[in-house]
Amino acid sequence: MEQKRSSFTGKIGFVLAAAGSAVGLGNIWRFPYLAAKYGGGIFLLVYIILAVTFGFALMTAEIALGRKTGLSAVGAFKALNKKFAFVGYLAAIVPMIILPYYSVIGGWVTKYLAVFVSGQGRAAAADTYFGDFISGVAEPIFWFALYIGVTALVVLFGVEKGVEKVSKIMMPVLVVLSVFIAIYTMFIPGALDGVIYYIKPDFSHFSVKTVLAAMGQLFYSMSLAMGIMITYGSYMKKDVSIETSVHQIEIFDTGIAFFAGLMIVPAVFAFSGGNAAAINAGPSLMFETLPKVFDTMYGGQIIGAVFFLLVLFAALTSSISLMETVVSIFCDKFKWNRKLTCLIVFVGALVIGLPSSLGNGVWKDIRILGLRFLDFFDFISNSVIMPLVALLTCIFIGYVIKPKTIADEVALTGKFKNEKLFTFVIKYLAPICIILILISSVLDVVLKDGFF
Ligand code: TRP
Repeated sequence: MEQKRSSFTGKIGFVLAAAGSAVGLGNIWRFPYLAAKYGGGIFLLVYIILAVTFGFALMTAEIALGRKTGLSAVGAFKALNKKFAFVGYLAAIVPMIILPYYSVIGGWVTKYLAVFVSGQGRAAAADTYFGDFISGVAEPIFWFALYIGVTALVVLFGVEKGVEKVSKIMMPVLVVLSVFIAIYTMFIPGALDGVIYYIKPDFSHFSVKTVLAAMGQLFYSMSLAMGIMITYGSYMKKDVSIETSVHQIEIFDTGIAFFAGLMIVPAVFAFSGGNAAAINAGPSLMFETLPKVFDTMYGGQIIGAVFFLLVLFAALTSSISLMETVVSIFCDKFKWNRKLTCLIVFVGALVIGLPSSLGNGVWKDIRILGLRFLDFFDFISNSVIMPLVALLTCIFIGYVIKPKTIADEVALTGKFKNEKLFTFVIKYLAPICIILILISSVLDVVLKDGFF
């Protein structure tokens, strides 16, 4: 039984809600470290090309699937073809994997907010500060537990709307502040090399890994290939243009990621001379680099505090939406009581997140496929399951229900301008690229780490 769905009000309501889910740590924390690691400008270029082809087609497809059926992922696939219901289930696993480690990072952000608010930002600018912090046992777990506890309380008491309201005010402030910090950073001596590295594509850095990383990031950042946009689409009114909405969400999401990179990557060059170890820092990049930027800034302590507060809100709206998704999957499937489900998901995420936290310190030598826990969870969701879900979605739409079904839904509000591009990407470009990339990445892991 499907209850009557409430809808987003107005045209902008949908875009804001979807953008609220899309903009989060993916843009501010994940994008810059990937861009730094995978060759700077070439990563940026590949990402943008993927965004206007893959991203556009998949987001359009997912939103239209949701709006057409009025159902979330599992139901939507099932309603159109019973055999494909498993794609919905596969997609549902993704938020369950992401939520725990997302909250570990959320805990780091909370800690940095506390550090700056209490006026200790200077200490955080030291080289070893972040490493010492995450390799500890009790402290990172404390912040992680606090973060996921707050997330769970919001979901438990159903006050998401309140948080959303606050974050709608904060999001534009975050954009303005990021642009300001990015411009400031560019003028730090030595940063210009970093700006060039970040913007100018250097084809010698190109590899299949660049594409895989960019594709995983695209899915992650735009909340694609995990059923989320299908759910959002199911709440969308029939008179709102899907095509226009998709463009707006994409521009917003990519814009924020771009400025986050511009704020962080050049700073890495300014403070480390762009040596390989610094560029390849991975998940720690933002936390190691930004305190150094704030340290050189007049009023940097306060700006740092404001910055981490804004990032915390962007992260919270995403983790709330992630937890909400997981809770409703269990509630729908097992008909559990909502409060109890919240508690179970909270405890589950806490337990699953622990290795991701400890893996930076005492458990750092325990590796899966050569990766630490946090990187492993990140890899398995972004580089394996999500591409797989995206591939199956393309096959489903391209060859089972046919692109026309989606195009008709899009055309409800007027001509579908990029229908040809959409059909081409869904039927040929995306499936072929994803298959090639998946094969090469699996081979890479298998060959390098002696999987067998
Ligand atoms: N897109 C979010 C970000 O960039 C993260 C995210 C992934 C997410 N999947 C989600 C958010 C599902 C809400 C719901 O940080």
